[in-house]
Amino acid sequence: MEKTMILALTSSKGGVGKSTLAVGLSGVLAMRGPTALMDADVEIATSRDWALRAKLPVQVVTEEEGVPKGARYMVLDTEGRPDLEAMLALTRGASTVLIPTAPNGVELRATLALWHKLNEAGGDMQRVRVIITKSPPVGSVGQQARDDLRTRGVQVCETVVRLYTAHQRAYEQGVLVRDVHDTRSENAWADLLSLTVEVC
Ligand SMILES: Nc1ncnc2c1ncn2[C@@H]1O[C@H](COP(=O)(O)OP(=O)(O)OP(=O)(O)O)[C@@H](O)[C@H]1O
Ligand SMILES: [Mg+2]
Repeated sequence: MEKTMILALTSSKGGVGKSTLAVGLSGVLAMRGPTALMDADVEIATSRDWALRAKLPVQVVTEEEGVPKGARYMVLDTEGRPDLEAMLALTRGASTVLIPTAPNGVELRATLALWHKLNEAGGDMQRVRVIITKSPPVGSVGQQARDDLRTRGVQVCETVVRLYTAHQRAYEQGVLVRDVHDTRSENAWADLLSLTVEVC
């Protein structure tokens, strides 16, 4: 049987956009094949609640339940600030580890520090990629941040996920961003499609 492709989202800072990407990516992946979503944050299970409210055609599982049989894809949303050991385990167990960061100094510095920490601790960095998110849709701040991180040896996704209130409304309404009535929902969805093509 085909192996499950596991996409993990993690970061050293909270509120960077992990759950937004986790739900969006699982919504896109479900169009390709059987998809599961695991929310490791048991206290504030944002992506679990969101996926259930949105009635996404994905199997929502707990950490205890593990990877469900037959899943072609699994998106793993980690808890806020997992410890180093947990992150190192992710770099070995997941197919791809995505670290979201906004293109601002505070988050970029934290992301760079996390990258070096994982690298020095022996993480499998081939599988780790930074994804720039919450990027101002106008101008090239996100692209510049991406290119700057690359010059520092960090692997960064080509796709830059833009900042749109449609993402916040998607959470509030319990739907995928594609289904929000907003002039920018199509752009927001296009970013998720592009990211999926890139990482899968
Ligand atoms: N691309 C985006 N455009 C606009 N708002 C966004 C975007 N991505 C995330 N947000 C908003 O940022 C906030 C934090 O996002 P989210 O909950 O996805 O982050 P998180 O990393 O999962 O947070 P936590 O560490 O608390 O689990 C939310 O209000 C969300 O709607
Ligand atoms: Mg979250």
